[in-house]
Amino acid sequence: MEKQTLKDIAQKLMTGDKGLLAMDESVATCNKRFAEAGIPQTEEYRRKYRELIVTTPRLGECISGAILFDETTKQAANDGTPFIDLLVKGGIIPGIKLDEGAKDMPAFPGEKITEGLDGLRERLQGYAKLGIKFAKWRAVIIIADGTPTDGSIYANAHALARYAALCQEAGLVPIVEPEVLMDGDHTIERCFEVTQRVLRIVFEVLISQRVYLEGMILKPNMVLSGLGSKVQATVEQVADQTVKCLLRCVPAAVPGVAFLSGGQSGQDASAHLNAMHVRYKNKLPWALTFSYARAVQQPAMDYWKGKDENVAVAQQLLYKRASINNAARRGDYTAALEK
Ligand code: 13P
Repeated sequence: MEKQTLKDIAQKLMTGDKGLLAMDESVATCNKRFAEAGIPQTEEYRRKYRELIVTTPRLGECISGAILFDETTKQAANDGTPFIDLLVKGGIIPGIKLDEGAKDMPAFPGEKITEGLDGLRERLQGYAKLGIKFAKWRAVIIIADGTPTDGSIYANAHALARYAALCQEAGLVPIVEPEVLMDGDHTIERCFEVTQRVLRIVFEVLISQRVYLEGMILKPNMVLSGLGSKVQATVEQVADQTVKCLLRCVPAAVPGVAFLSGGQSGQDASAHLNAMHVRYKNKLPWALTFSYARAVQQPAMDYWKGKDENVAVAQQLLYKRASINNAARRGDYTAALEK
């Protein structure tokens, strides 16, 4: 493991006011989003859509790294240029989703365990050869009556730590994503309690598996009220509770924290990130940015609808949401930017 190389990649991913773009929807998830947007669910349409993203003019001004799904790493633009080459040319570091999805966890009804460790060392070598510099693994934690249990949190933390150690061995920076889902009618206080427990356990196990903290990135959820909760926290409450939780749990050695959006609207995800920067400017030990999928992509996907004549405007919408999140990272976001 080249520690300096890992550190350098992590620093580049966190650079300036940029963030990451998650475009790593699995075939099933991508097809589900396409179905909702009225787009045909075929490999060719998934290729066209990813071409739209990676050829968006000036996207590299806003986005430091893009997380890809395996299918996309083998695809190319209409002119034959591989997507990975287009990203690199545009100044965007290519990354890869390595987990194979969250499955029902045996003996833990209602909870999930993420699979994908078998053969991971060999898969990593293949991706490293393609020029991929970082990776992602998502664990799913569900808040409900009696969950999450420590049994499921520890099992998921262990998988995250094993994945992270294997990534670092191969010279890739691991993004460690323990996502506490927004689904449920829980309060923001309960989300805080669960997120805190999960992050403490995740770092305990990362450290026990000798993961090099300076060479990783954390991708957490924000601390939010449950989607179905009657009381929805304010933007300032979300910012305060999220930062308080991260300051308690995330070692200062970690270079960056990049949030998932998790089903928040694009506007909410930007406003929340912005409020954290406005309220905690110069008080955070790590870079704090975004690694959104839906909160950056959705307007572009909805506009595109699979039609070639809509590509240019869809690309403008993608660029706009990405650059709005740059403003949020600087603490310069205002609702007027949405016009
Ligand atoms: P969302 O921002 O849509 O939650 O996706 C982020 C992600 O990468 C989930 O794994």
